[in-house]
Amino acid sequence: MLYASRCFYVRMVKVKENESGKVRFDVRGKYQKMRLGKRWGILLAAALLLLTGCGNDREDGAQPELLLGFSQIGSESAWRIGNTKDIEEQASAYGVSLMLENANQKQENQIDAIRRFIAYKVDVIAFSPIVEEGWDNVLREAKEAGIPVILVDRDISTETEGLTTCLIGADFYAEGVMAGEYLIRKADALGLEQVNIVEITGTENSTPMRQRQAGFLDAISGDERMCVLESIDGDFLKSRGAECMRYLLETYGEDIDVVYSHNDEMTLGALPEIESAGFVPGSDMIIISIDGGQEAIDVLKSGKINCVVECTPKLGKELMETALKLKAGEPVEALIHPTEEIFTDETDPQSIGPRGY
Ligand code: AHR
Repeated sequence: MLYASRCFYVRMVKVKENESGKVRFDVRGKYQKMRLGKRWGILLAAALLLLTGCGNDREDGAQPELLLGFSQIGSESAWRIGNTKDIEEQASAYGVSLMLENANQKQENQIDAIRRFIAYKVDVIAFSPIVEEGWDNVLREAKEAGIPVILVDRDISTETEGLTTCLIGADFYAEGVMAGEYLIRKADALGLEQVNIVEITGTENSTPMRQRQAGFLDAISGDERMCVLESIDGDFLKSRGAECMRYLLETYGEDIDVVYSHNDEMTLGALPEIESAGFVPGSDMIIISIDGGQEAIDVLKSGKINCVVECTPKLGKELMETALKLKAGEPVEALIHPTEEIFTDETDPQSIGPRGY
């Protein structure tokens, strides 16, 4: 991939992580980044840009290609890994130069990454905010630098107008509603008179956690059989899913009728705990998950999960098309939701095709 500037060409060969988790831009050309400390790296980039007076115009006058800075949350789930892969593949398909940074589940790393993108004068910044609050300052800096920002996957909460251009991501509220509506149908089919639910939620204060919970609660609230025993934060991690499930089993034991888990990873962590406690998931307890990755779908086929609501990680195509429009100064859709479906034991799960993540 080639990033053309007026003064030098920077070849962005690959973005790698070193042992300490810091991202290293493997940049070839007249400018080599960046084993120096973070501050030195930013100063050096800024000094080079000042000295050379670089914009993104090519000497030959041709339209410069798009340089997109993307801050990913981390690698907490098969979903997230699939999302990163899709964005890399689509960047390559659209000829977009991608500066990708993995924040290892830390908001401060995402803020640092956005500041680096600003220092590099990328054309467009995109990021998946780990939580909703706390972005205003850095987004104001991006706005002052004239760099448009796209939200990918998750939303932010802000009082300030115009800090971001659009959101490309799933309708998490609708996912919660689909999960709740499935549960009502399942309770009807089984003739249940009382339904005790435990909820393992995603990262506290994240958009999917808030909206999957709200959609689910709204869907079941009119049904008097439904009772949420406890909601507990599993942080979208498999290990936390297991820990939460151990605690829930110790606390509520056989009173649990339903496990509603906000993602596949936590569900896959919870299932062995349920089995170790002597229960059969899918029969003794109704298991509802969200994402629809291959591993969870295989478990649905085996009967140990009853319902998986799809959340597609394939947002790369929309991201590239939106970023290209922004670069060209064209208007973009404020909100883009992919179409999603639900996989359940109500129909034959064996017919579900390969998932690709
Ligand atoms: O924001 C999307 C959620 O984040 C996915 O459901 C989950 O698996 C991921 O970690």
